[in-house]
Amino acid sequence: MSRIFLAGATGVIGARLTPLLLAKTHIVWGATRSPDKGEFLRKLGARPVVVDVFDAEALAAAVVEAKTEIVIHQLTDLSALHDPTARSAALVRNARIRDEGTRNLVAAAQKAGARRLIAQSIAWAYASGPRPCDEDHPLDLKAEGDRLVSVLGVESLERQVVEAPPVEGLVLRYGRLYGPGVGIDAPPSPPSLHVDAAAYAALLAIDHGRAGTFNIADPNDEVSTDRASAELTWRADFRLKAI
Ligand SMILES: NC(=O)c1ccc[n+]([C@@H]2O[C@H](COP(=O)([O-])OP(=O)(O)OC[C@H]3O[C@@H](n4cnc5c(N)ncnc54)[C@H](OP(=O)(O)O)[C@@H]3O)[C@@H](O)[C@H]2O)c1
Repeated sequence: MSRIFLAGATGVIGARLTPLLLAKTHIVWGATRSPDKGEFLRKLGARPVVVDVFDAEALAAAVVEAKTEIVIHQLTDLSALHDPTARSAALVRNARIRDEGTRNLVAAAQKAGARRLIAQSIAWAYASGPRPCDEDHPLDLKAEGDRLVSVLGVESLERQVVEAPPVEGLVLRYGRLYGPGVGIDAPPSPPSLHVDAAAYAALLAIDHGRAGTFNIADPNDEVSTDRASAELTWRADFRLKAI
């Protein structure tokens, strides 16, 4: 049993992850910016914390107050992504959360004396080259336009998480999501990932694996998930029972 601060508890992954954490008897503080979503989190069984990740002081106070042992970072700002006219602005906001939001979360985890920080990233930011990529393949830092905005955000998030001593940082490079709550029922283009299997990887990362990065995706020709299988004991076919 661990004391867990889940940033992004109301998001598509957070909502599937919370019941998994509670079933393993973890105590879950679920963060949201919205007092209205507190009731949703309470119904899931989490302890709601209303805080904006960009308010560094309030965030650190909340993470310390919870005597947090494990911080899980499932923050994104992608609700406007499917509107083509709002897509570029959404990607800029999402990159900000990966950069500045992660900085505040790392500082909060360190201040609280947390043991481990587990963070969401993506598995399609790799540079071109031979496939499938393992986690040592370079990121696509020579990209342009919207893709460069995303890749720079990813690079910042991942560097901050794995360089957060004494906190152990694990980065989960998720495939493109589908499944309940996502709005996409069938696997999109590879690397794809069912939302339940994404949540399962975060659950396993609490007490499996070493600090570093892990590709988390359905079997595919783009990225290798051998490290996640071996170190996290992760499986792509994991599904929650109906919740
Ligand atoms: N790998 C992937 O393919 C991938 C990964 C993630 C999301 N998505 C897609 O993106 C779309 C939106 O995702 P989503 O529904 O999870 O919502 P979202 O709007 O991206 O928000 C995700 C979580 O981040 C939190 N958050 C955002 N900004 C915050 C801030 N400044 N401070 C504190 N918390 C903040 C939200 O909390 P509150 O809003 O409650 O404050 C929510 O819990 C979905 O279609 C999803 O499938 C895809």
